[in-house]
Amino acid sequence: MATQTVSAGPRSGPNSILLKTVMAVTGLIFIGFILAHMYGNLMIFAGKDAFDEYAHHLRTFGSPMLPEGGFLWVMRITLLVSLVLHAWSAFTLWARAGAARKTRYQVNKAAKSIFVSRAMRWGGVALLLFVVFHLLHFTTNTIQVNGDFSRPSDRLVSSFEVWWAVLIYVIAVLALGMHLLHGVWSAAMTLGLNTSLDRAEVIRVVSVAVAAVVVIGFLAPPFSILFGLIP
Ligand code: HEM
Repeated sequence: MATQTVSAGPRSGPNSILLKTVMAVTGLIFIGFILAHMYGNLMIFAGKDAFDEYAHHLRTFGSPMLPEGGFLWVMRITLLVSLVLHAWSAFTLWARAGAARKTRYQVNKAAKSIFVSRAMRWGGVALLLFVVFHLLHFTTNTIQVNGDFSRPSDRLVSSFEVWWAVLIYVIAVLALGMHLLHGVWSAAMTLGLNTSLDRAEVIRVVSVAVAAVVVIGFLAPPFSILFGLIP
């Protein structure tokens, strides 16, 4: 194994620890949103009215202290800022790793860690594309899969009666699960939570549990609708 170091001069931009911390903190914000969103989607099992009431509640939450839609906009701006910071840190670290490989180090990286970093990068890009599709689909109603409906629950149920729409969401949710599996673990490492071997084991179990809950929780509504279990 050769680990030959060649001086590459001073590096500009924020240091890598700071970038990783930004990724970890914004990643945790996303996890909070993802779990709340999953819980909201599961309302469809309580009936279409319950789901529509939840969608309406999102817009009136915090009223009268906040104007209508105020809470939703605070959440949207937080998510957007987090997304920009998360993607910017990821691309900066990505470019830096590429430059380091060409000019500074020759390291025999284990095949597994190359696979994981590629899966995180390309999975992240795929999730970004999915979010654009998803907003055009459910939020702006620009992409209509199976008719034009104004009620959120009708839009949800009619969409997942179509197999290819279910397939798109299955691929996206599996990509999200993979991203979380490594992302939760990686965030915990960056934030220094792995203070002992036992702690590291707990972190691994939590990563698997979060990924599994998110995949099962998000996929339950589309599959139940496709198989006619939700009227
Ligand atoms: C089966 C999976 C999913 C279903 C059924 C679903 C459903 C929905 C619905 C119905 C809305 C519109 C809510 C409303 O405006 O009333 C929505 C919004 C949204 N979803 Fe999802 N979603 C799923 C997965 C995801 C995933 C995996 C992500 C992120 C990676 C995500 C991110 C968002 C975002 C950012 C919004 C916009 C919230 C807003 O600004 O109004 N969703 N989703």
